[in-house]
Amino acid sequence: MNILLLGSGGRECAIAWKLSQSPRLGKLFIAPGNAGMAQYGTLLPIKPMDFDAVGQAAIDHHIDMVVVGSEDPLVAGIVDHFMGDDRLRHILMVGPSAAGAQLEGSKDFAKGFMQRHGIPTADYLSVTRDNLDEGLRFLERQQPPFVLKADGLAAGKGVLIIDNLDEARRELSAMLDGKFGRSSATVVIEQFLRGIECSVFVVTDGRDYRLLPVAKDYKRIGEGDTGLNTGGMGSVSPVSFADEAFMDKVRTRIIEPTIAGLQQENLPYCGFIFFGLINVDGDPLVIEYNVRMGDPETESVMPRLASDLVDLLEAAATGHIADVDVAIDSRYAVTVMMVSGGYPGSYPKGKVITGINQVTDSLVFHAGTAQDAEGRLVTNGGRVLAVTSYGTTQAQALERSFGSVQRIHFDGCYYRRDIGHDLIHNS
Ligand code: AMP
Ligand code: GLY
Repeated sequence: MNILLLGSGGRECAIAWKLSQSPRLGKLFIAPGNAGMAQYGTLLPIKPMDFDAVGQAAIDHHIDMVVVGSEDPLVAGIVDHFMGDDRLRHILMVGPSAAGAQLEGSKDFAKGFMQRHGIPTADYLSVTRDNLDEGLRFLERQQPPFVLKADGLAAGKGVLIIDNLDEARRELSAMLDGKFGRSSATVVIEQFLRGIECSVFVVTDGRDYRLLPVAKDYKRIGEGDTGLNTGGMGSVSPVSFADEAFMDKVRTRIIEPTIAGLQQENLPYCGFIFFGLINVDGDPLVIEYNVRMGDPETESVMPRLASDLVDLLEAAATGHIADVDVAIDSRYAVTVMMVSGGYPGSYPKGKVITGINQVTDSLVFHAGTAQDAEGRLVTNGGRVLAVTSYGTTQAQALERSFGSVQRIHFDGCYYRRDIGHDLIHNS
């Protein structure tokens, strides 16, 4: 089977690594990919949002299945684009239609969906300029901190958590006035939930599903979860508190009602669903849905997936997920992200990276890397490399990742040393 994978981050690198191990794989093409992904497939200089170019590449390279890594093309309707073209309709698509992708593309839609299907989540109100007074009254009834979310995609920046009521009022107005462009023409005000978060992933064909390993990511730049939010500084899998009792609740209260709800509302869906959950006194609530895998969770989830990924994705795309089994590696996997100095603010690019070939104990997934004119591997983004190790304990996996990180060099490199520390007491 020839596969076209869309994306260029550490997540797609880990997916490419896993796909490349499959005896079912014919040729792998990656658009646009990065320097590290060239070892797994052929890179195509095409942007995933350029649907015409993606479609033409799929025809030219006799693609049988397209795997969409990030949310933007899904929310913009890449699956519908393929289904609507006679030359492309036969190609299997891993990802939902635009209608299904609203689970991530519109927070207002996602909250309404959860309400309609009795799925536990924070109380909320959706506000536009037309019901601002009602919104302000709802805000005043909340306990601080106040949670304001832009309805639409905002490159991970659309969620504000504010301690002070006056500031929350001002921010609400600023958002409605276009602080995040059209994405914040509607704002979801939410009750703040206190608890510890985890990321649950399933692969679904729209009727049945298979669970992938549970993971936790670390979003803040500083140790002890301090400082600015980033795209993710590391991840661990499994997650100690996501035990059998907790996962039973996740399945019956959240995953199964979500898939049943998609069917009831006639929202065609196949591919990944990422449930961003929070554990509030032992009960899972949904913080957000995503219609793709997480980054950097994928870099610790894929190494723990013992089954063939091509089989699994094909089963999802053809409606046969109930026929496949998913085997999970029982070891821990810990991912440490090496980032450019200055990130998530401004940072330099083009710093030469050395030492990756000295790494023996870990998997190194590339995120922001490129080759320069002289063929050297250089930094090309904030998040540069995801270094993942296995261990029989989380501490051992973490230790191995640090050992490997120390063999890799680029000017200004920074990483967090406390990945997984909040879970370590019982793992
Ligand atoms: P989201 O994009 O909806 O995942 O929000 C980004 C982050 O904000 C989440 O990962 C949480 O850490 C935090 N967050 C969002 N909503 C809430 C909430 N209702 N209560 C507490 N924290 C939240
Ligand atoms: N790591 C969180 C995300 O991918 O959205």
